[in-house]
Amino acid sequence: MRQKGLKPNAFTFNSLIFLLCKTGKLVDAEKVLREMISQGVFPDNVVYTTLIDGFSKMGNVSSAHRMYDEMQSQNIIPDFITYTALICGFCQNGKVAEADKLFHEMLNIGLKADEFTYTTLIDGYCKAFSLHTEMIQMGLIPNVVTYTALVDGLCKQGEVDTANELLHEMCGKGLVLNIYTCNALLNGLCKSGNIMQAVKLMKDMEVAGIKPDAFTYTTLMDAYSKSGQMVMAHQLLHEMLQKGIKPTVVTFNVLMNGFCMSRMLEDGQKLLNWMLEKGIMPNATTYNSLIKQQCIRNDMRAATEVYRGMCHQGVAPDVNTYNILIRGHCKARNMKEAWFLRKEMVEKGYNLTVETYNALIKGFIKRKKYMEARELFEEMRKKELPADKEIYCIFAEMNYEEGNIDLTLMLCDEAVEKCLTNNSKGGRS
Ligand SMILES: *[C@@H]1O[C@H](CO)[C@@H](O)[C@H](O)[C@H]1NC(C)=O
Ligand SMILES: *[C@@H]1O[C@H](CO)[C@@H](O)[C@H](O)[C@H]1NC(C)=O
Ligand SMILES: *[C@@H]1O[C@H](CO)[C@@H](O)[C@H](O)[C@H]1NC(C)=O
Ligand SMILES: *[C@@H]1O[C@H](CO)[C@@H](O)[C@H](O)[C@H]1NC(C)=O
Repeated sequence: MRQKGLKPNAFTFNSLIFLLCKTGKLVDAEKVLREMISQGVFPDNVVYTTLIDGFSKMGNVSSAHRMYDEMQSQNIIPDFITYTALICGFCQNGKVAEADKLFHEMLNIGLKADEFTYTTLIDGYCKAFSLHTEMIQMGLIPNVVTYTALVDGLCKQGEVDTANELLHEMCGKGLVLNIYTCNALLNGLCKSGNIMQAVKLMKDMEVAGIKPDAFTYTTLMDAYSKSGQMVMAHQLLHEMLQKGIKPTVVTFNVLMNGFCMSRMLEDGQKLLNWMLEKGIMPNATTYNSLIKQQCIRNDMRAATEVYRGMCHQGVAPDVNTYNILIRGHCKARNMKEAWFLRKEMVEKGYNLTVETYNALIKGFIKRKKYMEARELFEEMRKKELPADKEIYCIFAEMNYEEGNIDLTLMLCDEAVEKCLTNNSKGGRS
């Protein structure tokens, strides 16, 4: 256009800015805005709103706000879409006070919020009860999505009672609850330790004709598992199956984790076999729980058996599987197996954790395999991972005896920096 001597107009600039914002190129979009102004084409409310929305979506609220200020200094009047975009940005950044301030500013200048504005704000602003009242006063009827956001938000803030009250009010107003709202509340109740109330809610749901789903059951099972009530958790599984609700892998992982935490490994193993029989595929997480507990019991034979079963089922071990197994083998002084697994995991591109490095190095030192220990120690240092103090001492001493004074001093420095600085009480022995 330029080559042909054509001058872009407001529409051209607007389109360009819109496209750049949509593709996340906010710096370029702003450049176009500057060019637009310098060519004497005046941006309007829509252009600024587009930029504010773009910056907000990128999480750059300071720039979004800068645009908003600029817009006002040009006497361009923001509308409720402008405000909503900005409020959305602040909420996503957890800056609820600012969002709230803007919201009131918006109402003060006579703009009306729409349900999206409210939902956005409620989502971020979890102490939303007064807002909810305000919303009703404005004559807006919150819909079930709003309520779900509100219930979820309140529960996450630990205000489960308020959420509960709200739901009752909502039913009183004739709004039909759906499964998502109920699950949000049930989750809140479980997370805050109100299992009894959660059970009651599930019964109420059934009475109201809302069928609990796999998520409902799994959430409740998780609460029972975490409080060690495995009998109750197991009972729920039966109930679920009786009703023909198909458990998901999450359901099983919740149960498996529960059995393992309660040291009921035999039940865990039974559950695994049962899953396989029913053709429900466990995933690496399922196996990892079981392997970890066998390692804690120092039963590396059983741990290896579970691991073999996993591979046999075609479930690929993940980074946690390797780290768990290697540490187990180190504890049992099976350094050959540990070394082999370490090689395999590195080949797959997985990283060892700090704990795994430390366990391997200590294991090799105990077996007097200094070469392997040294190789791992060097690798650790290269990755700037903090080795245990004990390991630094051993290598510093080793190097001292070999006459490597420079390296000895360097290791002492590193040890001080990495191990002792935080630990002023116990560390300086
Ligand atoms: C926000 O956008 C401006 C460009 O307008 C940029 O200079 C700044 O670094 C951005 N800030 C963040 C936190 O991304
Ligand atoms: C296994 O399932 C759990 C849910 O319990 C999930 O969080 C995890 O990402 C899954 N793991 C893999 C490797 O797919
Ligand atoms: C492994 O660690 C390196 C840094 O030491 C990192 O760049 C890489 O992304 C990590 N790989 C995985 C799979 O986490
Ligand atoms: C020491 O504390 C800092 C920050 O408090 C932390 O980043 C670092 O990981 C800590 N180092 C150790 C060895 O715990």
